[in-house]
Amino acid sequence: MKTSTTRTRRRCLLTATAIVSTTLVTGYALAQSQIITAMQHPAVRYQPDANGPPPPPPPPPPPPPPKFGAPLPGLTNDQMLAFAAGLGQFKNVETVASGLGPIFNGSSCAACHTRPALGGSSNIVTTRFGRTVDGVFNPLTNLGGSLLQDKAIAPGAREFIPQSANTIAHRQTIALFGDGLIEAIPDATILHNAAVSQTGPLHGLPAMITDVTTDKERVGRFGWKAQQATLLAFAADAFVNEMGITNRYFPTENAPNGNQSLLAKYDHVADPEDTTDPKTGKAGIDRAADYMRYLAPPPPRPGPPPPQAGAQLFQTAGCSGCHTPSMQTGPNSVAALNQKPVFLYSDLLLHNMGSLNDGIAQGFALGTEMKTPPLWGVGASGPWLHDGRAATIDQAIRLHDGEAKQSRDRYINLPEAQKQQLLAFLNSI
Ligand code: HEC
Ligand code: HEC
Repeated sequence: MKTSTTRTRRRCLLTATAIVSTTLVTGYALAQSQIITAMQHPAVRYQPDANGPPPPPPPPPPPPPPKFGAPLPGLTNDQMLAFAAGLGQFKNVETVASGLGPIFNGSSCAACHTRPALGGSSNIVTTRFGRTVDGVFNPLTNLGGSLLQDKAIAPGAREFIPQSANTIAHRQTIALFGDGLIEAIPDATILHNAAVSQTGPLHGLPAMITDVTTDKERVGRFGWKAQQATLLAFAADAFVNEMGITNRYFPTENAPNGNQSLLAKYDHVADPEDTTDPKTGKAGIDRAADYMRYLAPPPPRPGPPPPQAGAQLFQTAGCSGCHTPSMQTGPNSVAALNQKPVFLYSDLLLHNMGSLNDGIAQGFALGTEMKTPPLWGVGASGPWLHDGRAATIDQAIRLHDGEAKQSRDRYINLPEAQKQQLLAFLNSI
């Protein structure tokens, strides 16, 4: 992915089997006795009005509770098929013959996005490196930066963190649940919120990036640095940078630490390695994007809702200033994504987080800036923060800094019982 150190800022900015089998056995026995009865007696036919009105039909079974990794409710049959084909792609394990590497971080999308279900996060981190001199970050692109590929198809092809790198950061895997809804939020909504939220210590900035799939300037929203605006672009980026699968948007292989002769020695599959299926007109990146687009948001936690007090504290402590509780999708040709509320708890903006930053400039984001991560499903992820440095949600909040300092201090100063109410709220969203 392209990383630049200069930019133009825009201010506009989770016994059934036993029950089933008992029902089956009982049903079978009943059916048998009915057959015997039928052979011994003439048929007793239903007589309207003879015994009063017919019994009401049994109530329909309650819908199954939503689960992590389920498709969005209300998809058409074709969209369900696209979700299934996309899931197949997401789990597909690349091989040397299919184009894996020569350097890579995982051989399938599913290798990292696993918890608490496929499409989720994990404690797997990737590594970014670069060189910072006088506050200016150099991604060391010519030495294979800023993303390290820490695996290779042969020992001789391995990439290492170069000696000249003095800035090294880890990035935790991000869950993909509900990403189709996030993608469907109009740029204008994020820009409008940015313009009205520039109050007090808050200076959220939209990440203005060029979307590789359309060449249009868009508001980035995916990744810790809001480096991508669309799921197709993120899929294309992940194919080449995490798996070493070149595709129509990124047709050039990553050379180990920029070494072209090593690349020539180990790269024997013609580019682009991701090819379009003539029957469907879709390539692997399109299928992976379909899967993510149709993936349902995290389901609400089972159990009684937490006391309302926690949600109020989230407001009064100033958390909602960045972790915007909800936005709405725009008009969308997919009914399941059309003008739907999105309870993401993020403004999708970049904030200066002081000591809580990773020093890596990427896309529009400076080294000091991080995107507010959505908090839906936060209780089912972890460890927390961009590099997983927080073992608990409480710790994650205490480590907030920069623009979030005031809000963090309000949390720290809350009596213990109120902290617990706020944490119970976070665990419920
Ligand atoms: C080696 C582990 C690994 C593999 C393999 C991997 N990912 Fe990821 N994924 C990550 C990490 C780490 C992040 C956070 C990246 C960042 O922002 O720096 C991430 C973030 C994402 C995001 C952003 C989600 C959001 O809501 O912000 C998407 C989308 C994504 N990955 C899709 C994919 C797809 C599609 C594949 C397969 C082509 C894939 N990933 C393979 C580790 C992985
Ligand atoms: C100035 C904006 C801002 C404010 C205010 C703010 N946050 Fe955050 N929050 C962020 C950013 C940015 C991150 C990601 C930082 C990182 O990982 O480096 C984050 C991360 C988190 C995380 C970890 C999420 C994860 O997936 O790892 C939690 C939990 C969280 N915030 C809760 C809160 C709570 C509770 C409050 C109020 C007491 C709050 N935040 C106030 C911007 C903010």
